[in-house]
Amino acid sequence: MCGIVAYTGAQEAYPILLRGLKRVEYRGYDSCGVALPHSERVQVYKDLGAVDTLKGTPDGIQGNTGIAHTRWATVGEPSQANAHPHSDCTRRIAIVHNGDIDNFLDLKQELQDQGHSFSSQTDSEVIAHLIEREYDGDLKAAVTKATARLEGSYAIAVVAAGFPGVVVMRKDSPLVLGLGNGENLAASDAPALLERTKRVVYLEDGDLAVLRPESVELWRNGAQVELTVQEVAWNVTELDRAGYPHFMLKEIHEQPRVIRDTLAGRISLTDPRATLPIAAHKAPSRVIFIGCGTSYHAALTGQYFFSQVSPLPVNAYVASEFDPAPGTLRDTWVVALSQSGETADTINAIRKARTAGAWTVAVTNVMSSSITRATDDVFYMQAGPEVSVAATKTFMAQLVAVYLLAMHLAPRSTALAELVGELRAMPSKVQRLINAESQIKALAAKLTRYDHMFLIARGINVPMALEGALKLKEVAYLHAEGFAAGELKHGPFALLGLNTPVIAMAPHDGQYPRMLTAIKEIKARGAPVTAIAFQDDTELERFVDDVLHIPVAHPLFAPWLNTVALQLLSYSIAELRGLPIDKPRHLAKSVTVF
Ligand code: M6R
Repeated sequence: MCGIVAYTGAQEAYPILLRGLKRVEYRGYDSCGVALPHSERVQVYKDLGAVDTLKGTPDGIQGNTGIAHTRWATVGEPSQANAHPHSDCTRRIAIVHNGDIDNFLDLKQELQDQGHSFSSQTDSEVIAHLIEREYDGDLKAAVTKATARLEGSYAIAVVAAGFPGVVVMRKDSPLVLGLGNGENLAASDAPALLERTKRVVYLEDGDLAVLRPESVELWRNGAQVELTVQEVAWNVTELDRAGYPHFMLKEIHEQPRVIRDTLAGRISLTDPRATLPIAAHKAPSRVIFIGCGTSYHAALTGQYFFSQVSPLPVNAYVASEFDPAPGTLRDTWVVALSQSGETADTINAIRKARTAGAWTVAVTNVMSSSITRATDDVFYMQAGPEVSVAATKTFMAQLVAVYLLAMHLAPRSTALAELVGELRAMPSKVQRLINAESQIKALAAKLTRYDHMFLIARGINVPMALEGALKLKEVAYLHAEGFAAGELKHGPFALLGLNTPVIAMAPHDGQYPRMLTAIKEIKARGAPVTAIAFQDDTELERFVDDVLHIPVAHPLFAPWLNTVALQLLSYSIAELRGLPIDKPRHLAKSVTVF
């Protein structure tokens, strides 16, 4: 993954690069670094740790051009030597790289045989030496020749001593240019540019750009092309914590607004079939949802909901496991869910879907992200920037999107009209649950001492058991497993006991009696049970240790409330444990590697 930033202009580059780097730190944060070119050498500052470690760099750093990097290790452990930028043998060239170079071992051997000496274990360093080999004063030409040797994915930014600008290039890793006033920038993602400019150019695969303070030149397939300038819709103020202790909490609290914005203009009381922001396309005979991690859980919820409102066959797949045979998906819509729009596994699955003949739609939060170029159409969620590595509000926006999609394809019915009413009521129900946060904090205080936990549910709430467990693992570092309640007795029962609390989602729906049976069976094995139940449930408290109440809702909407309750629980446990909630260890927000 990794985040890169480049600047060239009239200002001191170092503080601008550091501020930009903070905005892409969600992409990785095990080490970081900056390089500033001077007349004879490129100065490199890098260290182990997150971007703030560079704040301690000694005074006297000067330069109006530079590149910067925040790393999520793929090849080579997190260490100062493996941190970017990487230099050539002469220290006249430095590069930052996001991606993976598949043939780096062969290239490294070739370069070593020619006398190049390497300082790191990374794949990225070969790029610096390849450019060094080709460089005769024309940096653009050297980058073009060097990258022709690379197999794999890369977004790179390159500086050279004596060159007053930056050369950037991308293939299968994101890169966006920012056009400023007497200055120009590049970054892995638009938020890194927002403090300086909202005017951006999203690069295509194979694009190479030369940035100078007063100009940006772009080459595509060897020919110079005009810049297609777009305005970023997000504001820099949305990237702040707004008084919250963590972005995760801020983003959980934003969910009523996110639901409203994603629904806006899509539903009406006169026609229960939702209007979609995608071009009319031949109705499918089958629908497939794909995604990874949290996005897969939204896909799975889409499968459950779809099958309740539409007779069409529907399936959900983990994107990395999706492998349809060519030609087998004609008349199928493949709906790819990805908050970042950059997840390599999901983009790869889309390519397979298209080869199989499917019509593909991306549901994403990020304008012009790679996924939007890979699919036939795009449904932008209206979640606003999500900074915390743990997906919360974008998961909610995905739920809204998959429900709308199902309600678009479903036959008209009174049941559908009832769902429209509930959709409109959900922002205030989610708000009521958020307002009752104190009951969740109290529960967190009880559960934080445990090391293992199970979450169970039935039907459409099963994906929430999986998602709740993912959140607990991700931010609270608590080993949690989500199960379909019926499955627990087929093996996991062996682990139940006094120290394995179980959270049971038991909204009043057709599955309620069976959930009650499962809860009794678990209690009989000594495990503490917390039920998440509707506010008006008076029965469950007789059978469980604790009840966490959620507002009463249509059973198909219980997942929305269950997930908010579990997000808040995970957050509260993580807070009690004093963990780095927004940047959990070993993770990154966009996973652009396989
Ligand atoms: O950007 P995407 O939605 O494609 O990301 C997929 C997963 O990497 C992501 O949902 C991950 O599981 C989150 N960190 C979960 O909070």
